[in-house]
Amino acid sequence: MKNRREFLTTVGAAGAASIFVGSGGTRTSLAAEGTQKLAIDGGTPVRKTSLHSRPYGPQFYDDVEKQELMDVLESKHPFRWWGANSKALQFEQAYAAHIGVKHAIGVTSGTTALYTAMAALGIGPGDEVILPAWTWYADYDAIVLSGALPVFAEIDGSLAIDPDDIESRITPRTKAIVPSHLQGGVADMDPILDIARKHKLRVVEDCAQCCGGRYKGKYVGSIGDIGINSFQLSKTITSGEGGAVTSNDAKLFERAVRFHDVGVIRAPYTESLGGGLLAAFASCNFRMSEFTGAVLKGQLQKLETIGTRLRNNARKVRRGIADLPGLKLRKTPDQEGDLGVTIFLDHGTRQRRDRFLRALRAEGIAASGPGGSVILPTDKRIENKVTLHPDWPSFNTPQGKAIRYGSECCPKTIDIHGRTGGVIMDPNFTDDDLKDIVRAIRKVYLAMRSA
Ligand SMILES: Cc1ncc(COP(=O)(O)O)c(C=O)c1O
Repeated sequence: MKNRREFLTTVGAAGAASIFVGSGGTRTSLAAEGTQKLAIDGGTPVRKTSLHSRPYGPQFYDDVEKQELMDVLESKHPFRWWGANSKALQFEQAYAAHIGVKHAIGVTSGTTALYTAMAALGIGPGDEVILPAWTWYADYDAIVLSGALPVFAEIDGSLAIDPDDIESRITPRTKAIVPSHLQGGVADMDPILDIARKHKLRVVEDCAQCCGGRYKGKYVGSIGDIGINSFQLSKTITSGEGGAVTSNDAKLFERAVRFHDVGVIRAPYTESLGGGLLAAFASCNFRMSEFTGAVLKGQLQKLETIGTRLRNNARKVRRGIADLPGLKLRKTPDQEGDLGVTIFLDHGTRQRRDRFLRALRAEGIAASGPGGSVILPTDKRIENKVTLHPDWPSFNTPQGKAIRYGSECCPKTIDIHGRTGGVIMDPNFTDDDLKDIVRAIRKVYLAMRSA
């Protein structure tokens, strides 16, 4: 109860906000809080040692993963197989059930999951695919490697694709939209799905940075036509490398399975798909190993624990700063479903953001702008449309030749990205850590306001 009380904010009778901070529950006025000397100016920092989230993901490993791995070692069958004891198959089935989709297939990474999703949708030369200007390379690369043309849309204050910037990018060649749920936040799927239905487009959800996130009661990866996930080291649950493709559509799933496994489809999947199978086509080997499946089977059991802790931690910090005048937090279309990975503020300008982050770091709280992704159109290899071969179909059509990337194609994304920043949360932060985050944000925010 004591800890809960420390995060409660109250509004005074005269409307002046006040907060209970400090272990003694001292009541301090906002004006007084704003006069504290910042550590960056020689004041006493909130913390002596820097608090930061784990750089390589939560890694909730214990005896569960150890035992699953031992089973595979002892079986001497680490190669992907399809019997009922296959750890990869067990993971796929448990993952599909967990997020509420009919089908899931494990693959080697989030990147190969995206290649598989593009192949499943039959996206290729002459097609266009819309993706956010701020996301990870793999979204762009999967489109280019399929032979299609990437078309960037701006992000909005949620740091996900701006639904209002999609329709103007649609042409008769557009086949799909890739909303990416980034840094634990969820993209606003309802308007995106409305646009997709209206223009008969497919929706590929990239859930790599939001495993366990939900949008209006549904898990991400179960909402669009096809979803992908990554289990690389820095992700919510991890096997070092790994990925998954999810879908409720039997035909898309069959194409995904065939593409990831040299064109074939094997017994457990044929059973779940029923009859009327498609033919094989040129494909890859992106099969998940049994070791990876074993670790992920264990990790999946921790997903809700990690998500709940992140959400609770973020909620406490949000409550602790809710009364700050003029506070503008990162937008979210679903506060409850958002994984709570970031406490990001919109600081209005890049200059103010940078000053805020420097001051917060001086208080002993690791602080940053949005990371883990890239403003892709400004990346040189993308701006210069560098591909595997000079005749690559993506850029060898009139549209491909005409399209211009670079900073001119996403000014709003650059602006929003540059003025946003704050603290990356960790499921292992203690209540004392959270209290320090609240104190540091309040101290710096109020001091900068009154400066
Ligand atoms: C949004 C997003 N999509 C896709 C990927 C690719 O995943 P992987 O690294 O497993 O290939 C990542 C990886 O960080 C990502 O952040």
